Amino acid sequence: MYLPALLAFVHHLAAFTLVAALAVEVSLFKPPLAVVQARRIQRADMVFGIAAGVLLVVGLLRAVYFEKGGGYYFANAFFLTKLIAFLAAGVISIYPTVLFLSWSKALREGATPEMSAEQIRRARMCLMLELTAIVVILFCAPLMARGFGYFGNRS
Ligand code: HEM
Repeated sequence: MYLPALLAFVHHLAAFTLVAALAVEVSLFKPPLAVVQARRIQRADMVFGIAAGVLLVVGLLRAVYFEKGGGYYFANAFFLTKLIAFLAAGVISIYPTVLFLSWSKALREGATPEMSAEQIRRARMCLMLELTAIVVILFCAPLMARGFGYFGNRS
């Protein structure tokens, strides 16, 4: 009885955590970075990854086994758009994650991470695209939850 509500709680907690971690990354990623800033960005990115994993698992559990069932969500344009935006943000987040992880050796030696202007520009663009995907997700979520965008059988 409580499970659907509990899953909704975990879903929203993970969604808020993901958005907060991304906001930390965007606000701290202003090279040249101090060692402490770079370490905070690495930690925020780890939290971002964990929250995204929890969101995908709990989101699919809710979509397939709880709420309105898989037949509804996988025949709903807003849910599919939300899922595609989420997966696209996941793929886009790979570039910044690889860049942030590449700092580990320098940070272990207490040195500030070196980056080219091109790496900085690309990482910034990825972070902005991830934020844009969140806006798309937040637009789709209430519409899909209220029956808009459903194109399946109504019989
Ligand atoms: C950053 C990522 C995400 C955010 C910010 C987010 C946000 C939300 C919000 C705000 C709602 C409540 C909608 C409402 O009742 O008005 C919601 C519901 C829901 N979300 Fe997400 N979500 C995210 C990712 C996902 C993913 C990846 C999935 C599935 C794979 C998913 C599946 C669901 C389901 C099944 C509901 C319940 C809809 C209903 O009540 O019918 N979410 N989401």
